[in-house]
Amino acid sequence: MYFPQYRPRRLRANETIRRMVRETALLPDNFIYPLFVTHGKGMKKEIGSMPGNYQQSIDNLVKDCEEVHGLGIPAVILFGIPEKKDELGTEAYSDEGIVQHAIKAIKNRLPELMVITDVCMCEYTSHGHCGVIRNGVVQNDATLELLAKEALSHAKAGADMVAPSDMMDGRVAAIRDILDNEGYENIPIMSYAAKYASGFYGPFREAAESTPQFGDRRSYQMDPPNSREALREVELDIEEGADIVMVKPALSYLDIISQIKQEFTMPVAAYNVSGEFSMVKAAAKLGWIDGDRVMMEVLTSIKRAGADMILTYHAKEAAALLNR
Ligand code: PBG
Repeated sequence: MYFPQYRPRRLRANETIRRMVRETALLPDNFIYPLFVTHGKGMKKEIGSMPGNYQQSIDNLVKDCEEVHGLGIPAVILFGIPEKKDELGTEAYSDEGIVQHAIKAIKNRLPELMVITDVCMCEYTSHGHCGVIRNGVVQNDATLELLAKEALSHAKAGADMVAPSDMMDGRVAAIRDILDNEGYENIPIMSYAAKYASGFYGPFREAAESTPQFGDRRSYQMDPPNSREALREVELDIEEGADIVMVKPALSYLDIISQIKQEFTMPVAAYNVSGEFSMVKAAAKLGWIDGDRVMMEVLTSIKRAGADMILTYHAKEAAALLNR
């Protein structure tokens, strides 16, 4: 059936019919909200390049989590800013670390809110790399031990899920192994499976104070032109025990999200990263785009591509619009 018998515009004529044929529904259930926690009391410092996002002390963080929970967002992911950084990133796996304390405070106040932790070294190391350095090179196998310790300390503090973002080989297996041996076999792993070496992380590095002090992350994060390699990375992580696989960033990698969704049966997460967020905010501030509209279009496109979960700094604003 072709024009003039068939007219696609019939199903676009008004909002009611558009609602009926809409293929993708975005829900607050789909969001995971990233939070940055720092030492101190009464601290709430806005991140310049990420309006509406803050480095905050635990007291304010818990208040923010109450708001997140009230909006119907099921989960947060925590990033820590330690008191001091060192070569081995020791605060990452200390039971007295900032993230460990934050987990306890949130779970204490909001037991139903899912607390996910980012498992990585870069926020905690003086050099800003995601692992142990020897001869100027990030050591894979030596880093695994520290990541496993970090994941275990998060689980011990009460984290509901751990999310390794370092891109070392074998880290999902190392983390699964230690969690199972220590009685945390029910804690899921959401692996940053296909994480690209991306310019879109710029604002995050200001937020987490995690810019590498020399070199870059291209020897461990993926090369943006590759997609078959992403499938291989996902396959390996699933073999090693990942329960949820993530693609990061999201917007320039919608093809990767879509391929992974088709190839595998695990739930897929996508990280709508800091630079993607900041671009929308900056253009909206200049009056060049309608910020809310573009935000919803971006999030819907990530869901349409195949993401079941979206980690996004837009979570609170988007949930508020969806709840209206
Ligand atoms: C830590 C980590 C990064 C992000 C999440 N976890 C930064 C990086 O790899 O440089 C980026 C998140 C964002 O840009 O919003 N490895």
